[in-house]
Amino acid sequence: MNQTIMCYGLLVAALFCLAVEAQWNPCQGRQDLALAEIGCWGYKRCENGSPVTYNCTAIGRVYHRDWARCVIVGTIGTLCGLSAECLNKKNGNYPDVSTGCTSFYSCFQGQFNGRFYCDANLVFHQRLNACDWTSNVPAPCGSKQ
Ligand SMILES: *[C@@H]1O[C@H](CO)[C@@H](O)[C@H](O)[C@H]1NC(C)=O
Repeated sequence: MNQTIMCYGLLVAALFCLAVEAQWNPCQGRQDLALAEIGCWGYKRCENGSPVTYNCTAIGRVYHRDWARCVIVGTIGTLCGLSAECLNKKNGNYPDVSTGCTSFYSCFQGQFNGRFYCDANLVFHQRLNACDWTSNVPAPCGSKQ
């Protein structure tokens, strides 16, 4: 009887370890200092195989993608923190054509609800509501015929 309980306990512990092990690590097998995630809020960078968060929002700033650092809202070269026109637009995400669709913004109940960047080399594909390669995306964001 005791043995059954002990084995059961071990099984639970093993399953727990498996669950922890299976957590997705975006830095698995990636180079040190590779970017794992990027947005107006900041970025996550791979350091020694694990993502490390650099949060610009936490210090009242936004991430400048080209300069790769936190800057104040309105700094030249970043539209982060600046609103886009959402009046009379349905809830959802819209490509910002003025950034070549490398960023998109979210509208909710006619209000601007944040701006997001696509990963490098991708543009916003409105129909899929996701960032995609330019060759898959129709004009004005991509080159698909
Ligand atoms: C960054 O900091 C802000 C404000 O402290 C917080 O709301 C947000 O969740 C943080 N983002 C990440 C990805 O840690």
